[in-house]
Amino acid sequence: MGDIFRCPSCGAVLKGWPPSSICGACGRKIPRKGGVLIFTDEPDLKLEGEGSYIGYDQVADSYAQHRYPEELDRQIWAGYGKAIAELVGPGRVVLDLGYGPGKCALEIAKRGCRVIAGDISLNMLTILSSTLDQAPENSLVLCRLNAYDLPFLDGSLDAVVARYLLLAVGNPERVVMEVKRVLKPGGMLITEGPTERSPTDDIVSEVEMKARRYYGEALRRRGVDELKAPGWTQRQMRENLPKFFRSFKLVESDDLVFRFTETPGWFLRRLGSRYSLFQVGLDQSLHEEAMDEVRRRLEEEYGKGFEEMGQEYREVHRLVVYR
Ligand SMILES: C[S@@+](CC[C@H](N)C(=O)[O-])C[C@H]1O[C@@H](n2cnc3c(N)ncnc32)[C@H](O)[C@@H]1O
Repeated sequence: MGDIFRCPSCGAVLKGWPPSSICGACGRKIPRKGGVLIFTDEPDLKLEGEGSYIGYDQVADSYAQHRYPEELDRQIWAGYGKAIAELVGPGRVVLDLGYGPGKCALEIAKRGCRVIAGDISLNMLTILSSTLDQAPENSLVLCRLNAYDLPFLDGSLDAVVARYLLLAVGNPERVVMEVKRVLKPGGMLITEGPTERSPTDDIVSEVEMKARRYYGEALRRRGVDELKAPGWTQRQMRENLPKFFRSFKLVESDDLVFRFTETPGWFLRRLGSRYSLFQVGLDQSLHEEAMDEVRRRLEEEYGKGFEEMGQEYREVHRLVVYR
């Protein structure tokens, strides 16, 4: 395996895997905090201007715990890890960029790839560092980095996974250009594709739809107008990404078909944990008031105990691979 990392100050090669902790050319130190290599001191929360980063530090724990019902959480990350490792191939070097709680990075590493997990949120990285012993030795390197300025040499990576990242950054074009710079010729960018859940006409789906609507209404009444992530929507990704790459394909796999039971309680926990991008910069008390209003309205309509109604779902996830 050739060298991969570069000095964030002078751009010189940082030798080794994991890389050396001091740049031989300019003397810049790459500090380590609890197993995480620190390549940037940029703040985690920055909502102004085109380079906006979202402040996941404040929601990292709840994002990790409430993103999916437990049963689905286990299935989902193992499924993604398997599907991605098969696409990329064993021994290849994969960057999981904006990896969040990191379960995807860990599962890819367990299946024979060398994985760099990179995120701007140190708290997200710390969650993953506590599971490092589950990965084969030397298979996973954790980096606090900024997607706008990656600490990797040109043409050094086989694949970059960017799952729900391009909707989280204020300037997705710049991130894609940076991803292209670090990919080897023929290397792949792997993003999330469209997800379909069935059934859709059941009572739990109806409650979830209403919860989302009531939440938006409650915020609007409190002066928050636009509930919108800073980056690309799925549709904008489909329109824009093919302009940067020669080819793309939609990947479906049995590993990405999930069956699970969800309750409105789970959905509300997810909404309450501020996992959605537009929620991250929101004032906490405003958010809590809006959540109280959502619960009150739903209880009036569906009665006490509505949170426990269960529904079995089948969810088909997909990946899109650009090269
Ligand atoms: C919506 S989460 C996606 C997490 C994970 N990939 C998943 O599929 O659940 C977006 C992640 O991108 C990270 N992020 C946002 N802006 C970033 C930037 N400029 N550089 C690196 N990571 C960034 C956030 O900290 C967060 O962990």
